[in-house]
Amino acid sequence: MNAFETLKAAFLTRLETVKTDQELAQLKADYLGKKGEVTGLMQAMKDLPAAEKPAYGQKVNALKAELTAALNAHKAAIETARMNEKLAQETLDVTLPGRTFPVGSPHILSKIVESIEDLFVGLGYQIKEGPEVESDEYNFEKLNLPKDHPARDMQDSFYIDPSTLLRTHTSPVQVRTMLDYGGQKPVKIICPGKVYRRDDDDATHSHQFMQIEGLVVDESTTMADLKGTLLKLAQTMFGKDRTIRLRPSYFPFTEPSVEVDVSCYNCEGAGCSICKHTGYIEILGAGMVHDNVLKMSGYDPAKYQGFAFGIGVERIAMLKYGIEDIRHFYTNDMRFMRMFNQ
Ligand code: PHE
Repeated sequence: MNAFETLKAAFLTRLETVKTDQELAQLKADYLGKKGEVTGLMQAMKDLPAAEKPAYGQKVNALKAELTAALNAHKAAIETARMNEKLAQETLDVTLPGRTFPVGSPHILSKIVESIEDLFVGLGYQIKEGPEVESDEYNFEKLNLPKDHPARDMQDSFYIDPSTLLRTHTSPVQVRTMLDYGGQKPVKIICPGKVYRRDDDDATHSHQFMQIEGLVVDESTTMADLKGTLLKLAQTMFGKDRTIRLRPSYFPFTEPSVEVDVSCYNCEGAGCSICKHTGYIEILGAGMVHDNVLKMSGYDPAKYQGFAFGIGVERIAMLKYGIEDIRHFYTNDMRFMRMFNQ
């Protein structure tokens, strides 16, 4: 019987050290396998006297059952330990704050351009774009500004060669469109884009800025249409209670020409520092398309009339948001940019 206890003790000692499935299988083979220790005990039974055999057999079977149970329990323990280790490695703390990625947004000037585009597309206008490097002919001559015309001084230019320049306004896109239409069909377009002038940069001037010009040419276009359109524009940009005021002005490409003022959104006309106590703020230039401009682009002024207007996008943004320095739009200070991130 002592042999049984010794064998069991040796088995249990080894079992303690078993860490892997392989070690476990080896231990099982060594004790319970065909040539295992317990099987050896069983074989020894044949040499015993008949009277002792049943009791001996029971003992061996009991030992076998005990060792098998111990093996199984250890196997389960290994598996549990392995699972716990895996779970610990894969722990997911759902209470940790998520990682946030910085999200960009359109530039404030793009947003203003888009809102103006939305308005005019809703009114049936098409959006047209053109080159920023433009010919003198389209930028000036076909807009009734022949060489040496004094009004060229109003738009100091960057020339690339004597007949090519960086466009000073987006009006050449209007010329291009009218020529494209061959003087035959009505025009209803807006032209957004960058323009360039030889100004010294300061708080209110930039050598590059953005404009949106509009042009409508049809057989019955009147100044009343222009005024209604600009009122709608002013109300969209500055609030539905705004009114506008037209003052006579001069542009070579329009006759008559007007400066357009919007009633002050800050003081409702009572007078404040934003409107310099006049109740009105100048927002754009406009007028009825000059006969010469229509003619040079192939339209018969006896049949067609048109109106045009030009908005400075930066100026609108500065007025709308009380921005004091135009350079903020271009220096990309994130603190400035984020103010418009909604
Ligand atoms: N092109 C003019 C400018 O840049 C603006 C304008 C457009 C004025 C259309 C009248 C009509 O100064």
